Amino acid sequence: MATIELSINGQQKEIDVDPNTPLLWVLRDHLDLVGTKYGCGIAQCGACTVHVDGVAMRSCSMPVQGLAGKKITTIEGLSDNGDHPVQQAWIAHDVPQCGYCQAGQIMSAAALLKKNANPSDQDIDTAMNGNICRCGTYTRIKAAIKTAAKNS
Ligand code: FES
Ligand code: FES
Repeated sequence: MATIELSINGQQKEIDVDPNTPLLWVLRDHLDLVGTKYGCGIAQCGACTVHVDGVAMRSCSMPVQGLAGKKITTIEGLSDNGDHPVQQAWIAHDVPQCGYCQAGQIMSAAALLKKNANPSDQDIDTAMNGNICRCGTYTRIKAAIKTAAKNS
C-alpha cells in the first residue's frame, strides 16, 4: 500500500492503495466516480476512457502510481452542469441506446475536439476507433461530434 496524491476533476485527493491498482478502480471504488465504466479491462473497448492532461486514456490499464501530478478528468468533471458542447450534442442527437459505452465515447470525442476543433470524417474515425459500442450507435456518435464541433 502507498499514499498516492491525485488531481481528479480539479480536486486534490489522497488515496491509500496498492500503487499498481488501475486508475479505473480508484475512481470507482475509492472515489465513487462510477460514471467511468469497466468493459474489457485490457484497453480494447474504451468504456473506461478519461482524460489525463487533456488526452483520452484507458483508465483500466493505467496503474495509479504513474499519475501523481497529472490532471485527471472523468465524465463527472467534464463540465459543471452536463453542458459541455459534446454532452449537448449527444442529447440533441439522442445518441445513447443502453448507455454503457457512452461516457467513454464522450470523453474520447471531447479530447478529439480539444486538439482538433474541425475534425474530418477520417479524423473522427481515427480518434473514435478504440471506442466500441455494442448497440451500434456509431452513426449518431459521428453526427453528434460534427454538431459539437460547430458549437464549440
Ligand atoms: S475497460 Fe478499459 S478499454 Fe475496456
Ligand atoms: S449505447 Fe449500448 S454499448 Fe454503446
